[in-house]
Amino acid sequence: MATKRVGILTGGGDAPALNAVIRGAVRRGVTVYDYEFVGLRLGWRGLLEKLTVPLGLPEVEDILELGGTILGSSRTNPFGRNAEVEVPQCEKNFKELGLDALIASGGDDTLGVARKFSDRGLPMVGVPKTIDNDVAVTDYTFGFWTAVERVMRSVDELRTTARSHERIFIVEAMGRHAGWIAAYGGMAGGADYIFTPEQPFELDDLAWSLRRRWEAGYHYALVVVAEGAEWKGREVYQEDVAKDEFGHVYLGGIGLELSKALGKMLAPEFGRKTNDLTRHVVLSHLQRGGSPCAFDRILGTRYGAGAVDLIATKKYGYMTALKGVDVVPAEITDAVSETKMVSQDFLDLARNFFY
Ligand code: F6P
Repeated sequence: MATKRVGILTGGGDAPALNAVIRGAVRRGVTVYDYEFVGLRLGWRGLLEKLTVPLGLPEVEDILELGGTILGSSRTNPFGRNAEVEVPQCEKNFKELGLDALIASGGDDTLGVARKFSDRGLPMVGVPKTIDNDVAVTDYTFGFWTAVERVMRSVDELRTTARSHERIFIVEAMGRHAGWIAAYGGMAGGADYIFTPEQPFELDDLAWSLRRRWEAGYHYALVVVAEGAEWKGREVYQEDVAKDEFGHVYLGGIGLELSKALGKMLAPEFGRKTNDLTRHVVLSHLQRGGSPCAFDRILGTRYGAGAVDLIATKKYGYMTALKGVDVVPAEITDAVSETKMVSQDFLDLARNFFY
């Protein structure tokens, strides 16, 4: 008989290398500690509705390079509107499933739920996941570098058509509260302008800089903008837009709006038609789907194995974190108490390349 029965769930937006985490945990748990695993489907919904799948060595074979998560994901929040029913239901199910511990891999929302259950006495450990890389306490969440690669490649590819047609391209990247993907992807792709939620920008300043760029003879530009970038004077959050179970509004649209505004403002000055000077590309879930890059595969593997080590040492309420080159334990409470923002130094460096 196995020494412990461990549940694993993946919650929130998926991220490349979630399967590396699952594989890392199961391989280490089975071979080193003689644990058995049970997969909970669709994030916290799996615990709420007892949606389980077998999770042994055969199930984690050949999944390392697979994007998404073999367990599925959702943004179900048992501590949401129906908490008085759903929280005790989850606790009851935890017992009925015979779980000794649960590994929850997710961003601040999923980890926040794990922390709340942990405060109520359920043995939980976390694995920080999000392409947004905005979870505090860890240097990187897995999935981030894959998203950065995707943005970089897109900027590389758009540069050739931008130059050929003398156009301004706006590339909208993910990142609602912090602009890690836009900043790092934009920097790697040599974007001419990068805008993120950390630093509000003004349309007039961008237009002024683009005029200088044109005057200098560079008749094209690549602008990378995070979906949650703060454009002074633009209403980003509207009251009536749809929200998820954690209360986040669905973002998107800044790329199109910026493209239209710049076209209207600059096309006549540049001797172009309003609808011809600018184009926008929303990278959206192309940043999230598909196979993980090498860094994320390794980080995911280390995080999965590390989560099992946390269980073995009874470090409940903790998650794995990357500090420099080491995977270390960190309190989930510290991770969910703030959003990790891109440093001012990095944003200043990006600004060096504005015209
Ligand atoms: O949490 C990661 C993230 O990729 C955000 O950057 C983005 O706003 C959100 O997920 C969109 O996810 P979905 O379309 O699955 O709701």
